[in-house]
Amino acid sequence: MRDHIESNESIRYQLAIETETSSYPIMIGEGLFDACLDTLEKYPSILLLTNDTLLDLYHEGVIGLLQKSLPFLSCMSIPDGERYKNIDTLREIYERLLSRGVARDGCVVAFGGGVVGDVAGFAAATFMRGIDYVQIPTTLLAMVDSSIGGKTGINLPKGKNMIGSFHHPRAVFCDLDFLDTLPKREYHAGMMEVIKYGLILDDAFYGFISANREQIASRDREAVAYLIYRSCQLKAQIVVQDEKEKGIRAILNFGHTIGHAIESHTNYATYLHGEAVALGALALIRHLVDKNMLDCHVLEGFIGMLQFFELPTFLPPAVDVDAVMSHIAYDKKRGSGIPKWVTLNRIGFVTWGQSVELEEIREVLRGLQKNG
Ligand SMILES: NC(=O)c1ccc[n+]([C@@H]2O[C@H](COP(=O)([O-])OP(=O)(O)OC[C@H]3O[C@@H](n4cnc5c(N)ncnc54)[C@H](O)[C@@H]3O)[C@@H](O)[C@H]2O)c1
Ligand SMILES: [Zn+2]
Repeated sequence: MRDHIESNESIRYQLAIETETSSYPIMIGEGLFDACLDTLEKYPSILLLTNDTLLDLYHEGVIGLLQKSLPFLSCMSIPDGERYKNIDTLREIYERLLSRGVARDGCVVAFGGGVVGDVAGFAAATFMRGIDYVQIPTTLLAMVDSSIGGKTGINLPKGKNMIGSFHHPRAVFCDLDFLDTLPKREYHAGMMEVIKYGLILDDAFYGFISANREQIASRDREAVAYLIYRSCQLKAQIVVQDEKEKGIRAILNFGHTIGHAIESHTNYATYLHGEAVALGALALIRHLVDKNMLDCHVLEGFIGMLQFFELPTFLPPAVDVDAVMSHIAYDKKRGSGIPKWVTLNRIGFVTWGQSVELEEIREVLRGLQKNG
């Protein structure tokens, strides 16, 4: 992996991801339109996938401009929402690719958050055994997490991301301009993944987030550009070591076992992903502190961080903890999702693969209700 700061004004940071199977740039900055055009103009046919919310916001802006500049680009919009990351949408994308004459040398552009990115990426991974795709992420979560690393997929009624494949994009353009329209709650939920990178991989970065929280919350461009850059760099460091998630990549799931159980117990309707992960991470950190395996200052600092970014710090008493726990047990029984517990030794250092006593986690979750 190489990285450097470009002199070009609009590109603040650029990273090159080099895995065993592919190599692609991530550009972070503002007004990345020209850089994007440079990448796209070599394709004879392009399908840009977005959703209705983003189409409303950007059809007169970047989407319209891309259509004007690239005559072979057509645009397709899907309804907004996780529930559209499904087989029906995928079929519609294939049909559109065919009707627009997109062939093996064509390209799919994902313009949106993780939902658009995942389904567009999976369509590209599977159409004609795989065509190119480019990510233009528009949420903080997509910029720091879902658009890098090559995981693509869709949901089945029985579960999230049940169908998927690894397929890396050709390029990722993280344009900070898009964050201006992102709702605060989405921005804060995306911050949880950023905080996670600091917590598990880099104590100096965790310190940076803590020290610059005001600037980050007000979306100061310089602070946010660095935030995205460092997050991508940390995720890339792990992904290149373990592209197919056979080992160390599991550490990126810190807080996710409990987070996923909370999300699925609440039918994905109460918490955004980052909010559920915040509770999962909090439960785990409190558990480690209770067992004297982690300094209590880590817990205090983490709660302060969650409070500052308006992320949840307690579980409402109405949530049925036993039912949440049954989701973890169910995953375990199914085999496919044996919880790979990731635990924190101190900020920036994790280990994974240990077994955690589920009864203890149950108690911690109950504790999160009492503290509410
Ligand atoms: N592939 C991976 O490695 C990976 C990693 C993490 C998450 N994911 C997936 O990502 C998805 C979640 O992604 P997400 O959090 O970006 O959700 P999302 O794509 O649903 O976007 C969140 C909301 O923000 C809106 N939005 C997006 N950009 C906007 C902008 N610039 N201005 C205004 N509104 C905007 C969207 O329309 C949506 O309503 C999940 O499906 C998850 O499974 C994938
Ligand atoms: Zn996550």
